[in-house]
Amino acid sequence: MGNTHILVTGGCGFIGSNFIRHMLSQYPYRITNFDKLTYAGNLENLRDIEKDRRYTFIKGDIADKVAIENVFEKEIDSVINFAAESHVDRSIMDPDAFIKTNIGGTFNLLEMARKRNVKRFIQISTDEVYGSLGKEGEFREDTPLAPNSPYSASKASADILAMVYYKTYKTPVIITRCSNNYGPYQFPEKLIPLIITNALVDMELPVYGDGMNIRDWIHVLDHCEAIDAVFHKGEIGNVYNIGGENERTNIEIVKLILRILGKPETLIKFVKDRLGHDRRYAIDSTKIKKKLGYKTKKGFKKGMEETVGWYIENKFWWERIKSGEYLEYYSKMYKDR
Ligand code: NAD
Ligand code: TYD
Repeated sequence: MGNTHILVTGGCGFIGSNFIRHMLSQYPYRITNFDKLTYAGNLENLRDIEKDRRYTFIKGDIADKVAIENVFEKEIDSVINFAAESHVDRSIMDPDAFIKTNIGGTFNLLEMARKRNVKRFIQISTDEVYGSLGKEGEFREDTPLAPNSPYSASKASADILAMVYYKTYKTPVIITRCSNNYGPYQFPEKLIPLIITNALVDMELPVYGDGMNIRDWIHVLDHCEAIDAVFHKGEIGNVYNIGGENERTNIEIVKLILRILGKPETLIKFVKDRLGHDRRYAIDSTKIKKKLGYKTKKGFKKGMEETVGWYIENKFWWERIKSGEYLEYYSKMYKDR
């Protein structure tokens, strides 16, 4: 495995950057990070490892067929596809890029993986492809796909395409479907970093609807370890759910952050609900635990305290992000709500 050369797409985003750092610290592999550097991609996320000789960065778009063909000239033997437009609210405002990147881009990668006979193709998907749950039940790998947003529909489409490449061409595809991640380097449009960074400067904290929607939260480093296990031990043609076994209502999360920061609950503002807002996600992780021996390590309270601490210590990181395009997005998104 010493010569292993992994193409990681979207490695300048939240999960991809944590994953590259994790892999370089554990294995002797070469990693090529191919990323378009959209608003969510940030070279700062990997500043500490950019001089590592095993690491190469290429700026490019997975929806650009020629660019993808060029990358595969570099004797890639495995692909881990993180690249995606990833924010549900943006997909509701403007779905176009979600279709182009999440479906069209995945198609280009699968085509090249097929032509070049790669050894593994890991498609990083999401529990959101399963849709929404009521009070009972959990998503299993065989739960029918029933997405409710342009984002989740684009991810579900990519999953179907990826599995069809396995069935038709025996392309060595494995799909992972993880629940909501939190941790360092998450873009402050998502709930947890948005609430932390707003609260730090005493801005209102927008909570959609009644705040009782439920998500299952997992620390990003636990997710990275799960992908590592799937990459090394996962069975081709399989789907693996990854969960944190940690269901929380949104309002509970917001109040926890306020408690950690010692800020008042008067900052909370209930705002108009998200369109088609999924009520509850919950994951059955039995398969990955039993088959690959995976288990989460990070307790939620400690993980959240560390995450809040990271945003306090790395103010320069998010202050730079929360300007320009972000401010336009924020005012469009939260005005009149
Ligand atoms: P992110 O938005 O933080 O990062 C996405 C990265 O992809 C950015 O670096 C961006 O520049 C890059 N990118 C976007 N379009 C591209 C394109 N056309 N070509 C090349 N690069 C492109 O997202 P994230 O939260 O790190 O999520 C990574 C993956 O994990 C996504 O596929 C997402 O669907 C999945 N996922 C995320 C979560 C979560 O809670 N964040 C949970 C489960 C699954
Ligand atoms: P988010 O972090 O966007 O992840 P996802 O929609 O992919 O689960 O949102 C998590 C939950 O928090 C979701 O129920 C929507 C809610 N939410 C708010 O209440 N206020 C906010 O400002 C944001 C961004 C999200």
